[in-house]
Amino acid sequence: MSSLVSISDYTRDEIMEILDRAAEFEKNPNQRTLEGKVVATLFFEPSTRTRLSFETAANRLGARIIGFSDASTSSTSKGETLHDTIQMVSNYADVIVMRHYIEGAARYASEVSRVPIINAGDGANQHPSQTLLDLYSIRKTQGTLNDLTICMAGDLKFGRTVHSLIQAMYYFNPTFRFIAPKELRMPDEYKLFCHRHGIRYEECTELDAHFDDADILYMTRIQKERFLDLDEYERVKDVYSLHLRMLDHSKDTLRILHPLPRVNEIAQDVDQSPKAYYFQQAQNGLYVRQAIISKALGL
Ligand code: CP
Repeated sequence: MSSLVSISDYTRDEIMEILDRAAEFEKNPNQRTLEGKVVATLFFEPSTRTRLSFETAANRLGARIIGFSDASTSSTSKGETLHDTIQMVSNYADVIVMRHYIEGAARYASEVSRVPIINAGDGANQHPSQTLLDLYSIRKTQGTLNDLTICMAGDLKFGRTVHSLIQAMYYFNPTFRFIAPKELRMPDEYKLFCHRHGIRYEECTELDAHFDDADILYMTRIQKERFLDLDEYERVKDVYSLHLRMLDHSKDTLRILHPLPRVNEIAQDVDQSPKAYYFQQAQNGLYVRQAIISKALGL
């Protein structure tokens, strides 16, 4: 039994094992291997896809689900600490899926919990289950994870999904282009990670025509909830908007990913393009999360 707090908790072999198991679940999602198990979902921040796909994954595997989608309905609102909440829920559940607004909360929870913790996103830090479904989607659409050019665009400062994805792609010889306004640049720690591991990257501030050579265009939402200064958010909130015509010179094999939800960064006319893959990407999350829960429980 093991927690998944950061994508770097998994080796390359473990990542590939998850992707292969997810492919099996995609062929047959209804397998009652978790009969008698209880999965807790503790969401201290809003979610649609992550919570519902984890809960669907647990349901399709025959587990039962407890938890909350709004921490104001839990005893956190009375002042209970995260430590005590995790202690309590460890008494009831076999695995805890937790989203929290504080960076490092999932690591802390894994240190005080008696059952595995699956990080469903901690602040601007990590979102490892999203990364595994991103890898699954990339492999499924490109036929490989190796030697790809990946453009990441939008809020690269607060976007936890791009931070986790950089760390995971380290195994697969990627070339990155980080496209962001200067206020939302990729943080230095992730660029240092690239330097240390010989990963090629470049940075630019313009979106149009800067992904024509890309295999993957990974769009992200400007994360309003992370801004301390809302005036700054107002200045950058509509900085990029991808439209169908902007795909004219892109590769036929380009696929557009987005962890969702989107706001204005992908116009609806892009949805009709065969290069738009974000809704299938979210669907892949179900199979990948079935594999993650199974692994956390040592099954
Ligand atoms: N991608 C993602 O984390 O979506 P939700 O916030 O809806 O869970």
